Amino acid sequence: MKSFDIRTKIYFGENALDRLADLPYKKIMIITDPFVAKSGLLQMVTLRLQEAYIDFETFSDVVPDPPLDKITAGVEALIKINPDCVIAVGGGSAIDSAKAIREFAVRAVKHDIALIAIPTTSGTGSEVTSFAVVTDTEKNIKYPLVSDSMLPTEAILDADLVKSVPANVTADTGMDVMTHAIEAYVSVNNNEFSAALAEKSIEICGTFLLRSYLDNNDAHARRKMHVASCLAGLAFNSASLGLNHGIAHAVGARFHIPHGRANAMLLPHVIEYNSGIDKHARSRKDYPKCVEKYVNIAKLLGVNNFNEITTVRALVSWIQFMMKEMNMPMSISQCGIDREEYFNAISSMAEKALADACTKTNPRKPSKEEIMLILEHLYE
Ligand SMILES: NC(=O)c1ccc[n+]([C@@H]2O[C@H](COP(=O)([O-])OP(=O)(O)OC[C@H]3O[C@@H](n4cnc5c(N)ncnc54)[C@H](O)[C@@H]3O)[C@@H](O)[C@H]2O)c1
Ligand SMILES: [Fe+2]
Repeated sequence: MKSFDIRTKIYFGENALDRLADLPYKKIMIITDPFVAKSGLLQMVTLRLQEAYIDFETFSDVVPDPPLDKITAGVEALIKINPDCVIAVGGGSAIDSAKAIREFAVRAVKHDIALIAIPTTSGTGSEVTSFAVVTDTEKNIKYPLVSDSMLPTEAILDADLVKSVPANVTADTGMDVMTHAIEAYVSVNNNEFSAALAEKSIEICGTFLLRSYLDNNDAHARRKMHVASCLAGLAFNSASLGLNHGIAHAVGARFHIPHGRANAMLLPHVIEYNSGIDKHARSRKDYPKCVEKYVNIAKLLGVNNFNEITTVRALVSWIQFMMKEMNMPMSISQCGIDREEYFNAISSMAEKALADACTKTNPRKPSKEEIMLILEHLYE
């Protein structure tokens, strides 16, 4: 038996932030990062709360790839503030921090606390997922915590908040969206509902990701990418992800590469691995089941052609083309990471990727040796 639901109420479109004027809560704790707090972004939220006479306090100690000690500090702050609602404002790091902080604090305060997620990047889809990725900095491990109790109560998608995103972050986070949609689409847990959401997300990325990278003032493209990010979040919340995210968590935790960038660099390698189609591939009678899915993805992007091999190759080329157009590094060496240090870490990163919760739903079951090979190819 399978089930599908969307528990988070989504406010979107123009002036979506106006929802804040109608909140039924008395005391709010805002969780955000220092950049968002100091830029005008947070004010777009707090002004509306002030106008509605809603009391709030701000915790702005979130750091990228949230480490466990920052979560503990947030839990202590929450217990002191004792809010009936938490509002997360920021990228995936702020939203994931808020999810984990509320999850742990709720046990201490012994009452429900609502969670409203307001993303300021078009990337993680965390505003609608039961995932929160936290980092154990001592062990260099990124853990995806997964629990339905972490699902936000509401998500507010207001594309005015992503106007200020720098081009390189648009590229990283946009490729994260693409990776979520592709991994959900080929996941062993995919279903008709998750597929519909993933397809729409892929279609939007195909048309609007480059546009929003090239012109931050392209409000239409920005709005579309903000919705695509949420659609991909809904897709993988149902179907989960795959090996690409499993390896990206391991590489990101060890070498501090932005999450979306790590995903993008891996995507061509993981598609080649899953499909069994690399640049030397010859046509054959039968292909793995996921090949049909990759062909569908290529169709949505308008790059399908002659047969399965040429179409999967065209999909890989499309991804590499997008990365070049968006000035993204294509390999670990282009990220300036020392060769010896990287190769020494491959075995341990492969073990972590194998144990990562996302890897379980990959269409092809990898061995440690196969992951090590992908990591080796990723260097050049
Ligand atoms: N929970 C999930 O389902 C899920 C899914 C994928 C990734 N993640 C996690 O989310 C984190 C990455 O999130 P992210 O990619 O959104 O990045 P992020 O939250 O780490 O933010 C990246 C940078 O962009 C800045 N920024 C954010 N909004 C901005 C804006 N509007 N204008 C200018 N700068 C802005 C931030 O201050 C930060 O410096 C990682 O830890 C990743 O593992 C979670
Ligand atoms: Fe991701």
